[in-house]
Formats: sequence, C-alpha cells, structure tokens
Amino acid sequence: MSAFSGQKLDKIPAHVPPELVYEYDNARDPRMLEDPHARMRSLIQEAPPIFFTPYNGGNWVVTRKKAIVDITMNPEVYSNSFIAAQASGGHSGEHKEQQPGLMLLPISVDPPQHTAYRAPLNQPLAAKSVAGLETTIREMTNELIDKVLAAGRCDFLSDVAEPLPVTLFMKLAGMPTNRLAEFRHLATQATSATVDHATREGVFKRIAGILAETIKARQEKREDDLISRLLDANIDGRHPTFQEMLGYSVTLFLGGLETVVNALSFGVRHLARDQELQAKLRADPSLLPGAIEELLRLYGIASTPRLVMHDDVCHGVQFKKGDIVLLLLPAANYDDEAFPHPEQLIIGRKEQHQTFNTGPHRCVGLNLARLEMKVFYQEWLKRVPPFRLDPQAPPRFMGGFNLAITSLPLVW
Ligand code: HEM
Repeated sequence: MSAFSGQKLDKIPAHVPPELVYEYDNARDPRMLEDPHARMRSLIQEAPPIFFTPYNGGNWVVTRKKAIVDITMNPEVYSNSFIAAQASGGHSGEHKEQQPGLMLLPISVDPPQHTAYRAPLNQPLAAKSVAGLETTIREMTNELIDKVLAAGRCDFLSDVAEPLPVTLFMKLAGMPTNRLAEFRHLATQATSATVDHATREGVFKRIAGILAETIKARQEKREDDLISRLLDANIDGRHPTFQEMLGYSVTLFLGGLETVVNALSFGVRHLARDQELQAKLRADPSLLPGAIEELLRLYGIASTPRLVMHDDVCHGVQFKKGDIVLLLLPAANYDDEAFPHPEQLIIGRKEQHQTFNTGPHRCVGLNLARLEMKVFYQEWLKRVPPFRLDPQAPPRFMGGFNLAITSLPLVW
C-alpha cells in the first residue's frame, strides 16, 4: 500500500480469491466522502469481513472487531515495523525505506523492544498525571467559547476543535504556543490524504525541524514538560538518543492533534443533529462519560496498517508474507457481532470500542483524549445554547488513515 496514491492494481495477486475482492478506496471512496461513518456501517453490511482492495497499490482490509483484536494481539505475524512518518503520521504508515532515519516511537517498534520504548510514555500520560491538566483545559475551552458565543454561530472546526487540542498538546510537550497556526497547518498537511508525496516530505521535514529546536532547547535546560521528561527516560538502561527523541516527538505531535480534533468535531456534529441528546446531557452532565464513549465508538477516527511477516490464515483468509493489512477500526465499531444495534448511541453500553485499538500499541494518549473531551463537553453544553448544523453550509469530510471533517459550521 503506497499511502494513498490512488494507483489501482492491474492484476490481483494470485493468492487472493476473486470473491474477496471489493473495490474500496480509503481516501477517495465517494460514499465515504459523503458520510464517512455511514460508509463504515455499509462496509460491514456489504463487503466481505476481510476483503482485498486493488486501490492504492492493493491491500487487505479487515472490518470485524474479533479479527482485528486477533491481529493486534499477534505482532510476531502482524508487524508495525514498517510504519513511518512520511505516509500520514503517527497512526498510519508507508514502507520504511521511504523515510530513512526517522523511526516513529513507540508505534513503529514491535514487541519485545516496544515495551522498553513505550514505558517512558505510560506514566506521564496516565489518568492521574493528565488530571493535572484539567484546569488548563477548562480555561482554554472557556476562552474559545468567549470568542464565539455572542455571534450565535461558528465554524466549530477552525474556531474550537483545532485550537483546543493543539494548544494543549503544545503546552504538555513544552512547544512554543505562539507557533500554533503554523503547527496546526503542518499537522493537517501531514495527515491529509490528498497532499502529494513531495509536499508531504517537505511538511515532515519542517515538523521535525520545529520539534528538533524544542528538543535542543530542553537538552540545554529542562522544564516541566514531556520532552524534558523523555530526555531523562530510561530505555533499557540508557537515555534516548536525539534521533529517538525526534521519533517520540513526531509521533506524539501527530497522535495528539488530528485525532482529537476530529473526535471532537464528529461528536459535536452528532449532538448538533440530536437535540434530545443535547437536552439530556445538559440536564444530567453525569451522563457525559458514557455518552463520550459512545461518540468515540460511533465516530472512530484512525485506521492502522500491519505488515504480514509470515504466511498466515486469519479468520479463513490466506495472507502471504509481505501483504499489507489495513485494520479499519472505525468500521469495527459497527460490527453487529460485537455491538448489538451498532447504529444506536446507548449510554452505558458495556462492550469496549475499537477506536483506540487493542494490543500493545493501544493508544497511550487515551486518558488525555478522554479528559479533553469531557471538560470540553461540560463547558460547551453549560454555556452554548441548543446548537444545530448551519443549514446553508453542511459539513465536509475527508478520508485517509484518519477520517476527518474539514468544516463544521454551527448556529445557535
Ligand atoms: C480521540 C483521540 C485519539 C484516537 C482516536 C487515537 C487513536 C489511536 C490508535 C488507534 C492507536 C493505535 C495504533 C496502532 O495500533 O497502530 C494509537 C496509538 C497512539 N496514540 Fe493515539 N489516539 C488519540 C489520541 C491520542 C493523544 C491525545 C495522544 C498523545 C498524547 C496519542 C498518542 C498516541 C501514541 C504515542 C500512540 C502509539 C502507542 C504505541 O505504539 O504504543 N493519541 N492512537
């Protein structure tokens, strides 16, 4: 799979049975661009549970939760080792040779080495540690609400969803927040499915350059931030090298930005179309954590690829060494076998959604993501009157490794 080149295979590989070929372009499928998650649901209903798509160089796509869990729990066969920065950022990948030198940490390392690389992130991103950011998130949310409240309208994406997680992440990592707009623009380009190869390469160089400046500054003088803590981290008895610091920083930069922006935006779009749920959550904010889990399930964002290291039969499908398998996490959340009535938002549902994935690479930032969402909804629902989509300007969407909204005009 060469990222999202759009290139279509002329010839389906010999080991792929014709009945498992299903044409789906994760970047350009017209039905996905019309409504990404409705398309995820239709893939469950219409496509084989594991299918081979000839688009983007050809790869397998896995849509069912059980198969995805089995694959993520078997990293010896299904490797992350080829995930590299250039393709599309922290949660996705392209073949490593194309981005020599920069290993995304800890996402592009397989167990057992992965354990040592992941360890330095576990404590700083644990629920207890990120709880210290709650006041900052609340203040930032209120500042953003102050700016739009009186107007009775906003583009939720650019006015709220983008600045909030980006600013917060920069504070956490210790990056200069006066470069917010520049960072955000770079993050969007880095994860965009439609940006060409050369542009993306330039974008990654600039991101790495800005992050390198912060790392160098912290090497000189530690501050109370994540980059400073990572510099002093212990990886198998030594501190991370400069190159490894860059690998961590780029992964966190991308992982912490695009995903939260889109999770917030899809969630708010849902509420804008469901006045009853808005009223329910306003009346009883204690329902929020359960509602957020359901919004995270209904609106999964990231999908992630794996490289097949040995021939393997998975849920009856023969994979060959060298095949690429795309785990379509947002589709798995609509799998009827895992989630009864998958289209319904059921507060208190017990089944764990797949939005943060499973296995050793399960999102390490999920506590921060959940906290950002909880505090945001608490403040937004408290202060902003009942809101709905602007009937003159419907939202627009984008595909790729991350499902995304590119504009979300709201009125109240
Ligand atoms: C709603 C928001 C988010 C979503 C949907 C999301 C999704 C994911 C997914 C699906 C993975 C697993 C990828 C794989 O298995 O290959 C992952 C890993 C990761 N995420 Fe997130 N993420 C979110 C927020 C964050 C935040 C806020 C941060 C940073 C603070 C972050 C940092 C990371 C890192 C570093 C990894 C790699 C973990 C590892 O390889 O061990 N994510 N994320």
